[in-house]
This record gives sequence, structure tokens and C-alpha cells, in this order.
Amino acid sequence: MIFWFSGTGNSRWVAEQLARQLNDRLISIADAISAAEYRYTIAADERLGFVFPIHSWGPAPIVLRFIKQMHIDGYSTSTYTWMACTCGDECGHAVALWQKALGRIKGNAAFSVQMPNTYICLPGFDVDAPDVVTRKLAAAEPRVEHIALSIAQRRCTIDVVEGPKATLKSRVVYPLFKHYGHSDRAFKVNTAVCTRCGTCVKACPVGNVAIDESGTPRWHHRCELCLACIHACPQRAIERGTATVKKGRYHLPNKYKQ
Ligand SMILES: Cc1cc2nc3c(=O)[nH]c(=O)nc-3n(C[C@H](O)[C@H](O)[C@H](O)COP(=O)(O)O)c2cc1C
Repeated sequence: MIFWFSGTGNSRWVAEQLARQLNDRLISIADAISAAEYRYTIAADERLGFVFPIHSWGPAPIVLRFIKQMHIDGYSTSTYTWMACTCGDECGHAVALWQKALGRIKGNAAFSVQMPNTYICLPGFDVDAPDVVTRKLAAAEPRVEHIALSIAQRRCTIDVVEGPKATLKSRVVYPLFKHYGHSDRAFKVNTAVCTRCGTCVKACPVGNVAIDESGTPRWHHRCELCLACIHACPQRAIERGTATVKKGRYHLPNKYKQ
């Protein structure tokens, strides 16, 4: 059983690869929350996995909110429980934050996969150059195979890139990000170039974007700041304040989408 969340598709691809290689079932955290479905049953020999992006040196907050509410019938201390996060570079102390949210469920293994960066909201942060995107995606394929093998063998391991100053980033910056960083009030649409195509509506994993009666996309204050809407817009009509104006946009290549 693999619970997954993804904004721009990186974590979705990792979750799908792992599910295929491990012959596990996939459960979308966004769909589960929207259906208020928090109770699941796990078989005695089944593994429990989580795949998600790193947001500000911690798990994307929606993942922790889901984990804190979920109930797994049939869980026992012999249930092998793992996480795989995707990040542009490093994940800080995300593993400890995941374990804390799990409560009585004991995490056995954690892995990180470096994928193309999607964070563009602050000065100094931008998408990766095309050659870096190509290199990261090429390295991700054998990395995911390695992770699948480790999970299949039920290895107990912490195999993540924490990066420097992890305590400061995960214990100070991450809580601030969770508290103040999620507002969608700064999203704006350049109506002169927006074609009302609805790509932003489809891209949002949590159903936060809708086209209003005048044909303009509107954000409804349930944003996870995954930035899927900004990156997906084919017209580059969406910005978040001014910080994203001169930044690149990320599109996971089609061959990584099902
Ligand atoms: C709000 C936000 C914060 C992010 N913070 C980090 C971070 O702290 N460290 C990092 O290496 N990458 C960070 N990233 C990059 C993503 O973790 C990375 O691109 C991830 O693969 C995106 O996954 P997704 O396509 O499944 O949404 C951040 C991205 C976003 C949107």
C-alpha cells in the first residue's frame, strides 16, 4: 500500500515506479482527503509506504495532516513501513517529522530521490537548467530501482540527503513555511494572455483552482503551494506575486507521465 502526493508530477512518477516494481497498490492522499477516507486495512504481509515531495525541508504539509488522521486496521509492529521523498537537493530532518506524525506506527526505512526543482517563490530559487533536469531524471531511474530493491528486501535504513543546517531548516524554517507560506492570495493571472484553457484547474491536485463566471482562474484558499498551476500554465499567465516573474517553469517530460 503506497500513499502518495505530488504537485508537479515528480513524486507521482516515483510512486508509480515503486508500485509497479513492488506490485503494490497506490492511494492518492489528495483523493483520500477529498473523500474524507482515512481508514484503511493492511494485510499481515503488506508493506506501508509514503511518497511525497519535500516542501521547505519537511514533508509537504498535506502528507503529515493525512498521516495524523489516518487509521490503518491490521497494522502491527511487523508491518514494514517506509517513505520516499523527492527533493530538488536535500530534505533536512523530514524523516523525523514523518516519524513524529506516524505516532505509534514505526518507520523502518526512508529514502530521498533528487528530482528537478520546482520551488521558484523566493529570490535565489529557480528551476534547474535543462542539462541538470536531464541529469537528475537519468539518475532517478536507477535510484528508484535501488529503493524498490531495498523495500522488497525490507531493509531498515535511512538513505536520504539531509543537507547542511538541517535542524535550523526543518525545525525553524519549515514550521514558519507551514504557518505563513501557504497563502494563495498572491497568485494572479495575466488576463491578457490567459486563454481560459483550464489547465491550471486540472493541474491543481487539491481542487483549489476554479474558473469563475468571467472565465478567470480563482484560488479558493486551500492551497498546498505545490506550484503545479504556475508550472502547468501553457501561456505563463500565472504568477505568485512578483517573485516568480523572471523564473523558469518546470514540465515533467511526457515519458515520465502515465
Ligand atoms: C513549496 C516548495 C518547497 C520546496 N522545498 C524544497 C526543499 O526544502 N528542498 C529541496 O531539495 N527541494 C524543495 N522543493 C523542490 C521539490 O521538493 C521537488 O522539486 C519535488 O520533486 C517536487 O515534487 P512534485 O513534482 O511531486 O510536486 C520545494 C518545492 C516546493 C514547491
